[in-house]
Amino acid sequence: MIVPPFATVDALVAALAAGAHASDEPELDVLAHSLQCGHLLHTEHPDDAELAVAGLVHDVWDAVSPGDHRDHDIRGAVLVAPLLGARVARLVAGHVQAKRYLVASDATYRNGLSGRSTATLLEQGGGLDDDAIAALEASSDFDATITLRRADERAKVSGASVPALEQWRALLLEVSSQSG
Ligand SMILES: [Fe+2]
Ligand SMILES: [Fe+2]
Repeated sequence: MIVPPFATVDALVAALAAGAHASDEPELDVLAHSLQCGHLLHTEHPDDAELAVAGLVHDVWDAVSPGDHRDHDIRGAVLVAPLLGARVARLVAGHVQAKRYLVASDATYRNGLSGRSTATLLEQGGGLDDDAIAALEASSDFDATITLRRADERAKVSGASVPALEQWRALLLEVSSQSG
């Protein structure tokens, strides 16, 4: 499936809204998961709008192409890069690598993964090797990438009450205007 990158915040919001019809976990749709992830990051890191927005859009590929989860990290990053900028795109692209990093480096993390995250780990390559761990730790985005991933795992509460998608427009427009 070929999807052009988002040209406007309206187009991105429409794509995210479609996540209401795609499942993240059996009891959780992609939109609910995305809103929870963005909200956790915005609440806990209020000075980093790009991190919060990256949390909101990290699974946008799953919203636009339900059932086609392969390379969803990279494909999602490509979709948002022109609109939201290079750092947001790197954080989106890094969210599976961060999972593989944490599986390899944090003994308790793997046991806390959701059923679907555990199921997809093998096809994503399992835990990172030592060279890949060192490369990720050396990157300027390391802290934010891991922070996003830890929020990703926590953003899977069925029925959680969080701000609606429309309330993200102002922050999306802010990040978008700064990325150009
Ligand atoms: Fe994901
Ligand atoms: Fe996710």
